[in-house]
Amino acid sequence: MIKVLFVCLGNICRSPTAEGVFRKLVEEHGVSDQFEIDSAGTSGYHIGEAPDPRAIQAAKQRGYDLTRIRGRQVSFSDFDYFDIILAMDHANLGELIAKATSSSRDKVNLFLDFAKDVRENEVPDPYYGGAKGFDHVIDLIESASDGLLNHLLEKREA
Ligand code: 4NP
Repeated sequence: MIKVLFVCLGNICRSPTAEGVFRKLVEEHGVSDQFEIDSAGTSGYHIGEAPDPRAIQAAKQRGYDLTRIRGRQVSFSDFDYFDIILAMDHANLGELIAKATSSSRDKVNLFLDFAKDVRENEVPDPYYGGAKGFDHVIDLIESASDGLLNHLLEKREA
């Protein structure tokens, strides 16, 4: 089992979107039984909340269902439990690295480092913007999800 955790600030926009996109990609590859996929926020602002309605809507239009996800905050046990932790931006990456132990630090990655043909290295926070921002978030996440799945499957076979 490969355990994957996506992390943003609130766990209501970017990381639930990544969880939904990556889950569907894994299903399409027929490898769902080999993955455990979750998301969390570095902040505790939205614990127990459903994703932002704009994130749910943008995802739905592109075939992803985020409605069952609920916000939670990253915990110290996540660093032991998960095999790889993907941060949506540099601020979240810094928070995660600060919380990690020396033995779990290498699990923490910038998600867009796995994206091919993408110039940006952060998934921008769409919270204060319009619907277009949410669509762009999905573009970036789809690209990084492809790269991440290839990486994890190749690593498993090595
Ligand atoms: P997320 O977006 O980190 O992608 O879930 C945000 C959601 C909420 C807030 C900031 C970013 N907030 O400040 O409440």
